Amino acid sequence: MTVDQIREALLKPDAQIAPGYQLVTVHLLDGQTLRGFARSRTNFNIQLQDLTGVFHPLSLDRISAITEEKQSLMPTVRAGPDELQNLIAYLIP
Ligand code: HEM
Repeated sequence: MTVDQIREALLKPDAQIAPGYQLVTVHLLDGQTLRGFARSRTNFNIQLQDLTGVFHPLSLDRISAITEEKQSLMPTVRAGPDELQNLIAYLIP
């Protein structure tokens, strides 16, 4: 990532969500709901990783609705200008 991309990822996590990290809530026909990352999706299934890390391969025919969240799970970094600069310096290769 470039310095600008890293800065944006830290200050505006919602602007760009890394592939595989979109947050969704899946409502199953049996009444269960699952929330987590949509790790992969096809026309037939969704591979959901819940927030404890457990994977749930779900066939779409078990699902009544999928709600997609626009926000990243990642919180905006709270840092002063010097801390932010040090953090970015630490993160660049
Ligand atoms: C100083 C601490 C942190 C740094 C340096 C950091 C850095 C980053 C960066 C650079 C990305 C973008 C990755 C990409 O686009 O490929 C990212 C994404 C992400 N981070 Fe963090 N992060 C921090 C703290 C956290 C915390 C505390 C959480 C969770 C509570 C978190 C959760 C995530 C998640 C879920 C993503 C993927 C979704 C997205 O792209 O927004 N991060 N982080």
